[in-house]
Amino acid sequence: MIDNLDQVPQLYRTLLARKSCRRFDSPPLNDQILQSVQTALEAIAPIQDGQHIQFLMLNELEKSRLAVAQGAYGRFIASPHLMIPYTENNSDALVELGFQSQQAVISLEEFGLASCYIGAHGRVRKLQQEFELSEDTHLAAVLIYGKPAPSLRNKNINRSLRSLIGSRKRKPAENILLNPTAQHSSLPSEWDAILEAGRWAPSATNAQSWRLLPIGNEFQLFTNPTAYPLVLSAGSKLMYGLYDAGIFMANISLAAKAWNVQVHWRLHHETRVPNQKSLIPIARLSFS
Ligand SMILES: Cc1cc2nc3c(=O)[nH]c(=O)nc-3n(C[C@H](O)[C@H](O)[C@H](O)COP(=O)(O)O)c2cc1C
Repeated sequence: MIDNLDQVPQLYRTLLARKSCRRFDSPPLNDQILQSVQTALEAIAPIQDGQHIQFLMLNELEKSRLAVAQGAYGRFIASPHLMIPYTENNSDALVELGFQSQQAVISLEEFGLASCYIGAHGRVRKLQQEFELSEDTHLAAVLIYGKPAPSLRNKNINRSLRSLIGSRKRKPAENILLNPTAQHSSLPSEWDAILEAGRWAPSATNAQSWRLLPIGNEFQLFTNPTAYPLVLSAGSKLMYGLYDAGIFMANISLAAKAWNVQVHWRLHHETRVPNQKSLIPIARLSFS
């Protein structure tokens, strides 16, 4: 697939190397780097024209507010910095949130900053109230970020936390493709590499709910909410399913950009797969 490692673009390396970080340096980042992060966030592209999301930047929060921001699953993670991606737009809000949040995550990586998504299921209202966001605000996860802590202790804790949730494990690429033997009429030669970056996209509980169906010279993307643990409510499974689909779409778009391939996502909710009622259609991917 990739013959010469020296020729692998830096952005593509970043996409494949990125993993969640759960231990950070405690000194806050300096103003210059925070300003660079802010500038990078402003350059993030939405799927639909004009549907930019907001990033609420929170630095050095006091303990009680931090507890609300991070919730029970994030209580062992400490960084002076976090952000809450949110939007008041209603058009495919969760897919846009995932798509734009993952671009933020990769921009942070490019600045040498690590991150971890902390899911917001069951506490969206609490977050809205604490951070004075309207009831109509959509959000699905908080992003903790900062310089990764380099200590051995950090590595051990990181490893044990990751082993609990199956981090760095991914299903094979064939699992993403519905009907893998279908002929696709116009695939770029870099497609396998681009799909690999999608495969390594992060997802809530590492559920990897995304599925692609070749249709003519396009792919239809679906999300499968049944991929999430049974303990989650149907609403939370749907929330993460849509958000994680957006994350996957961002990795595909960024990998394509790294390899100079033109791809285009168009939100598309009409295609159904017979006998696979749980699959929710999200978008079409085309190449030009
Ligand atoms: C929407 C979302 C919510 C997540 N929530 C949590 C969380 O609450 N706690 C946590 O430790 N990791 C959380 N994660 C991180 C995932 O567990 C992680 O991305 C996945 O296991 C893959 O591992 P990797 O990011 O190291 O490649 C979340 C990721 C996403 C995308």
